[in-house]
Parts: sequence; C-alpha cells; structure tokens
Amino acid sequence: MEVGIDKMSFFSTQYYIDMVDLAHARGEAPDKYLIGIGQTQQAVAPATQDVVTMGANAADQMLTQADRAEIEEVIFATESGVDQSKSAAVYVQKLLGINRYARTIELKQACYSGTYGLMQARDYVTLHPKAKVLVIASDIARYGINTGGEVTQGAGAVAMLVTANPTIATLNQDNVFMSDEIMDFWRPNDSSTAVVDGKFSANIYRDFFKEVWERYQSQTGRDLNSFKALVFHLPFTKMGLKALRDVLPEVAEQKQHALMDSFEASRRYNKQIGNLYTGSAYLSLMSLLLNDDTLAAGDELGLFSYGSGAEGEMYSLTLQPEYNQGLIKEQLPNLLAQRTQLSIAEYEKMFDSVVLGSADRELDITHDHAKFVLGGVKDQKRQYVEQF
Ligand code: HMG
Repeated sequence: MEVGIDKMSFFSTQYYIDMVDLAHARGEAPDKYLIGIGQTQQAVAPATQDVVTMGANAADQMLTQADRAEIEEVIFATESGVDQSKSAAVYVQKLLGINRYARTIELKQACYSGTYGLMQARDYVTLHPKAKVLVIASDIARYGINTGGEVTQGAGAVAMLVTANPTIATLNQDNVFMSDEIMDFWRPNDSSTAVVDGKFSANIYRDFFKEVWERYQSQTGRDLNSFKALVFHLPFTKMGLKALRDVLPEVAEQKQHALMDSFEASRRYNKQIGNLYTGSAYLSLMSLLLNDDTLAAGDELGLFSYGSGAEGEMYSLTLQPEYNQGLIKEQLPNLLAQRTQLSIAEYEKMFDSVVLGSADRELDITHDHAKFVLGGVKDQKRQYVEQF
C-alpha cells in the first residue's frame, strides 16, 4: 500500500516588502539581496496573524467536511509557538471543526520538524490505512530590524493531508537522517527573535547536506540521475542553489541543466515569501509542482530537510498521475497578486506590533482579510476569531 501526501495548501500574510526597498534602507546593493541572497520579496506578519491562524487558514482551504470528520491526528510543526504548554494543534482542531476524537500535538526542532511530522503521519497511516492525518508547518521567521538575518525573514504555513493512495506523491521509506548538537541558530525563551551565527549556519547546512546525501546514496544505491528534481529547505533561495551546485558535477551536463531548471521552478514562490522555517521545504515542493511543466507521473523527487541545531534528512517522493488535483491551482498566484506592499517604515512598525506577552489587548481585525485572525488577548487567553 502506498502512503503519502494527498492534498497540499498554503497560506501567507497579505503584506510584503520589496527587497530592493530593504536594500536601499539598509545601505546595501540591491543585487546582494536579489542575486547574492536570492530573495525578491518578503512576507510580513501583522499582529492579527500568528502560527495558529496561518496554519488554520492554510488547512481550511483544502479540507472537506468529510476530512474534518475523519482526521485522526493533527500534527503541528513550528518553532514560533504561541504557548509554552498548549499545542497550536488543539487551537487549530477547534477553528477547523475537526472531530474531537483526533490526537493533537505540536513538534519542535527548528526548521526540521515539519518533515518529522510528515513521517509520523506516513507511519501512522501505514499502520492504519483508512486514517487521515493533517500535518501543518507554520512559522514566522524573525531576526530583527537591521540585523544580518533580516533579509531572510518571512512568514507562512503549509498544510498537508496524509492518506493511503495519495493524490500528489508517495512518501517513500528511504529516509536517511542525522543530528548533531550545534549552535548555529537558536531562540532563547525570552527572545522573540532568533540568534544566529549566519555564515556558520550556512556552512553547517552544506556540510549536513553533503554527509546526508552521501549516506543516502550508499544506503539506497541511488544517485543524482535517479531524480527528476531535488527539493531543498530554503531559508533563502541562494542556500539551496549552493547545496545543489555542490552535487551537480556528479552528473552529465544535460542532466545538470535539467536539475537547474527544476530548481528554478522550486524556488519561484520562496523568493517572494521568504523563510517560513518548518514549511520552507514544502513551499518549495509546491512551487516545483506548480511551476515545472516537465514533471510526469512516476517521477522521483529527492527532498532535503534541514533544521538548525542541527538535524538533516533526505528522502524521496514518487509523483502520482493526478498530482495537480491535490493542489489548489490558483491559490499561490492569487495570494501573491492580492498582497499589499509596505514601505520599510510601515514594515518596521508592524514588526514591533506582534503580540508577545499575555497582557490584555484588543486588535483591530478589520484590515485583515483572512478567515481566521487573532482578535487579541483577554485574561491571558489568545482570542481567535473566524471572520466569515
Ligand atoms: P551577509 O553577511 O549579509 O551576506 O549574510 P554576505 O556578505 O555573505 O553576502 C551574501 C551573498 O551575496 C554572498 O554570496 C555575496 O558574495 C553576495 P555567496 O558568497 O554566499 O555566494 N553579494 C552580491 N551578489 C551580487 N551582487 C552584489 C553582492 N554583494 C554581495 N552586489 C546570511 C547572509 C545568509 C549569513 C544572513 O542573511 C543570515 O544570517 N541569515 C539567517 C541565517 C540563515 O538563513 N542561515 C541559513 C542556513 S541555516 C538554516 O537553513 C536554518 C534556518 O532556516 C533556521 C531553522 O532551522 O529554524 C535559518
């Protein structure tokens, strides 16, 4: 029996900044951001969106009433959690009207936990073939205004429904993973922004990729020719490009060009959204599926997931005949076309408006067009609102 991703859906906020504006404001050459980093725009989260609302907004667009009645687990991957005890998954269960006999859990290991959630879902469905598991990867990447990491911020959520006989792709049982305690990026409990050793983190990412890739090849007998495309965790899109370039010499020139073309398709949306931590590799997968018209049923895709701290994993997916039917075709183009561009001054104000503490606060939700929004905090409880 095949198990894998049956449906995928994405949500990001309605605001963005242009990387040329940010470069001018920070005294950098625009090409450093556009080419050197590989980002053109960046999603900005208003106070009325957090990981719960973004996750719910993503999943709501793909779930039928039958799905909501049949889901057996909600797995929520994030490193921007809104509570130290309560999981984001249980908020989402209520907002989405998912039945009360579902398990709910939140996972954390930097950008990696979405992949772990997906594999837990796969293994559960393998044991319980009629089950449906909802996996959500949702994050707001925050480094701080005028920091080295600022150009690599972003926000968004990817929701995936895992079932037997999936519409999009099977998740193959060939995972190779490794972990090592490394201080490349972390976020202490009293900080709303990440601490990062930027260049060190990028080097560790490449080292992990190379080691995991070599181990994957020796354990599976596969090589780069086995894959139609490689999908990467994209904290910024140049990062994936560097990793891909590290292995391209392993294949003939024609194959190198084909892999590069697929990579361009896979980074198209990430360039415009920025880093969404746990969801970044899966936004890249969606970007590939929606923008690479050379894909065909049966194609093998390799996916490299990386989370600082650090953990890396490589596995393959097999594309299914009707894979396009599992995606909402115009979702991403519409979302991007409908966003409002902020000036850098407006973004800085919005960045500082985020709801961090538990003090009572009422938010103006009239500007937020999303279905699920954060209305404020009352009696130390976050107040989620369904607008339509
Ligand atoms: P920086 O020091 O500002 O940038 O930080 P730089 O000086 O290294 O320049 C960046 C690139 O732009 C270089 O290219 C320059 O040559 C080029 P490279 O050598 O890398 O190929 N450049 C230009 N190109 C064209 N025209 C120009 C020009 N000028 C310069 N005029 C850094 C960059 C990424 C370090 C910083 O933004 C940062 O710290 N970001 C956050 C950390 C990060 O994203 N790390 C990635 C790996 S870790 C990871 O993926 C996990 C993570 O997602 C978190 C998690 O797991 O939860 C982050």
